[in-house]
Parts: sequence; structure tokens; C-alpha cells
Amino acid sequence: MSALPPGPKGSLIMGVMREFNRDTLGFITRCQRDYGDVVRSRFLYVTAYFIYNPADIESMLTTNAKSFRKAQSLRSPFFHRLVGNGLVTSEGDFWRRQRRLAQPAFHRQRISSYGDIMVEYAQRAIANWRDGDQRDVARDMNRLTLEIVVKTLFNSDVSSDADRVGAMLSQIARPFASQATLKWIADNRLPTPGHYRYFNAVREIDNVVFRMIAERRASGTDEGDLLSMLLQAQDEDGSQMSDAQLRDEVMTLFLAGHETTALALSWSWYLLAKSPEAERSFHAELDQVLGGRAPQVSDLPQLKFTEMIAKEAMRLYPPAYAIGREAIEETEIGGFRVPKGTQLFAFQWVTHRDGRFFEKPDEFVPERWANGATQTLPKYAYFPFGGGPRQCIGNYFAMMEVVLLLATIGQRFKFAVAGEVEVLPVLSLRPKNGIKAKLFERAHDPSPLLNGQGFGSSL
Ligand code: HEM
Repeated sequence: MSALPPGPKGSLIMGVMREFNRDTLGFITRCQRDYGDVVRSRFLYVTAYFIYNPADIESMLTTNAKSFRKAQSLRSPFFHRLVGNGLVTSEGDFWRRQRRLAQPAFHRQRISSYGDIMVEYAQRAIANWRDGDQRDVARDMNRLTLEIVVKTLFNSDVSSDADRVGAMLSQIARPFASQATLKWIADNRLPTPGHYRYFNAVREIDNVVFRMIAERRASGTDEGDLLSMLLQAQDEDGSQMSDAQLRDEVMTLFLAGHETTALALSWSWYLLAKSPEAERSFHAELDQVLGGRAPQVSDLPQLKFTEMIAKEAMRLYPPAYAIGREAIEETEIGGFRVPKGTQLFAFQWVTHRDGRFFEKPDEFVPERWANGATQTLPKYAYFPFGGGPRQCIGNYFAMMEVVLLLATIGQRFKFAVAGEVEVLPVLSLRPKNGIKAKLFERAHDPSPLLNGQGFGSSL
């Protein structure tokens, strides 16, 4: 029988809860340094392993995936009321069927047809931006990706029902997103006024979503959006999703699909603002490939550097900074025993910055994705979209959106960010107080020589 892994003792009752909540990213980084690639810790009465080695992460997500289900933190009644049995939370045969039904909606060709919407919405969003404006880029990106997900899910524009759902969802996502992931284990048991407000808001959203489903069923039209795709989806035996199931999937896509993408964009702008050299290469690519016209999906293969920016930004600031699982049977990881019921976490935040796999791990170097150096990377040294059967279904959607939006906005504007931005790891990796930036219209750029050099000090 193999041994249990080493790890911090923590306090008698709380375990490591306090240290984890006080400085999540520091704590999970220190644990690897102090105890190695598999670390055992305890949150109250729950045992958790932190796993840092790509081979072990691969085992958890792929080769030994059958020994695990999603982590306990995802099964809070609070969260369940919102996303129900949607793709992120469901398990077993039920999940497998839903994934099979939803997959065609995420087919590359289908997703590519949303490219024009993404560019058009980005152009509309920046139409009123002016040289010298001060903006919160994180808020702008959130709003933009929200509009895009509403449009692609419901073929619906702002100011309609769908926008109301969007606004409400982003409101109610806030309170529970403000808690550390693992704190969920202890939370959400007591009926507080906040909880009542939350459940009322969810009920209101339900009404809107159910009405939209009923209207679409009645009209029978294919609007070309994700809702139509899900409505038409048929299993081999001819069965289709019930209204309740459609509602859960719509809500799930809505939540999973917009904030993560907004964060990938926000961190990209932040890193570009801090890296004049990368910013110059970015602009050179945009000018050369697009020459001032709007980007299209067919430009994606040429926008290579822009894609590298997105990849590198998600390496340093992975929007999903942790992935959790629960062992459903006794198993092994990294040579250590994993008792049934153990919660396991892999942290993109730590492994993406591991010096064993990445040279200059804390530096923003988009080129690293070009020069073959990353071809020898262990598969799970970089996993912003997870992996294995539960890999993100929206990864192509997200990459396409990030690259098209970077290109559309970067053609006209660049940002200057004063000071550092504090990171807040909640359910996703957010900038704590947004990203306050000063806008520069590129047409008003000073001479190319000045561009990027005296730039930071011009704030
Ligand atoms: C940069 C943006 C995104 C990031 C970083 C991201 C990250 C992830 C990760 C890490 C997982 C796996 C979670 C796990 O294994 O426990 C996941 C799952 C998922 N994502 Fe994304 N995601 C992004 C964008 C999107 C978009 C745009 C959509 C939909 C429009 C989406 C829908 C989903 C769904 C439905 C799942 C669950 C899949 C399943 O279990 O079958 N995501 N995402």
C-alpha cells in the first residue's frame, strides 16, 4: 500500500482554510516549493491533494479520469440552482449524452459563423472611445463578451429579454463568485436574505429563459444561434433535450462562456501595455495582415502573433486558475495513495509558471509559442482549457473570440496601465480593482520611435 503525500498541518479545526483564503496564490505556490509535486492538506474535515506535475494532472484528467468526478465545491446547492445539470456540473451517462448532443453546436464551422458578430460587436463597443479616455478595460471586456454570448446563444440584441438575463446573471454571479472556491465546502448552508435575493433572481431568469425556449419551439425557426442548435439536437434514438435541460445548458454556457473570455482579453491588454516590444510586434502584424480593414475568420491563420499573445496571457493569467476533482474510488497519484472522497486540485496558476517547463517563467514572452521550444512541453504543463473528456467545449469559440477582438480593438487603440494590477482568485482569476487604462488612438501615435519607449512615463 503506497504512502500518503506530505503537506502542511494547518490548525486543528480549520486545517489550511485560513492560509488558503488569506493568500490563495501564494499558498498554493509555497505548498509545491515546501512539499513537492503532490501535497496533502485539509479544509475543515475535507482532505484535499494539490497536484503540480503534468504527468499526474494528465492522469487525473485523462488516463485515470474514470476514478474521478467533479470536485465537491461544484455541488453546492447554491451553484446547482443556477446551472442545474448543465455540462459543467453533470456526471456519468447523463453528461455523456448531453456532451454528444451539444458537440455539433461547437463544431468549428458553426462557431466560425459567429466571427462577424464578434468583430461587429467589438467595433460598435469602441465606436465612442476617444484618444486620452480613461477606461476600465476589464469592465469593457466583460460587457463586450456578455453581449456576444447573448447574441450567439439567443440571436438576441441588447435591450431585449436576453440582455435582461445577461444583466441579472452577471449580478447574481457576483456574490458567489466572491468566495474562494474551496470555501464553498463550508458555505451556503444557511438561509440568509442574500440567499433569498439570489434564489428570487434565479427564478426570474428562469421565467425569461423558459419563455424564450417556448417561443423558439413554437416558431420552429433556425436562428443560427446556439439555442437553435441545442433545440434541434437529437440523440441516436431520436430523443431530444427537455425544456428543463435546455435551460440548464443555456445557463451553463452563459456563465462558462463570457467571463473567462473577458479575462483572457483583459490580461492580454494588461500584459501588452507592460511590454512595448510585444506591442510593437502585435501592431506590425495587424498592419501587415489587415492593412486597416476589419479582421475576418479567414485571417486567423495569419494572425499568428496575436494568437501567441492570447496563449501567453492565458499561461501567466489563466482565467480558470484551478481544476478540481473528487476521487470516487481509492486510487493512486504520483505514487501516493488517494483515499476515496479525496478532493484533488491542479493549479494552472502554478504549473504554467513552473521553471522546469518554461524558461523565464514569470516573463511575458509570446514568441515562446513560436520557436519550437514549447513542442517538447509535457502535455499538461499548459492546460488553460483543462483536458480529457471534460475539456472545455468552448475552447475554439474562446480562442477565436479573443484573437478577433484583440485584432479589432488593437488596430485602433492601445492602452497604458499605470502601476501593477492586483490579482483576485475567486472562481476565476480576476483583476481585483479592474484594469484602469488610458487609451491612445493609434492614428494619434507619436513617432514610431517614441512608441513604446517614453510611453509609460506619458501617463
Ligand atoms: C478563455 C476562455 C475559457 C477558458 C479559460 C475556459 C476554461 C475551461 C476549463 C478549464 C474547463 C474544464 C473544467 C474542468 O475540467 O473541471 C471548461 C469547461 C467548460 N467550458 Fe470553458 N473556458 C473558456 C471559454 C468557454 C466558452 C466560450 C464556452 C461556451 C461558449 C465554455 C463552455 C464550457 C463548458 C460547457 C464546459 C464544460 C464541458 C464539459 O464538462 O463537458 N467555455 N472551460
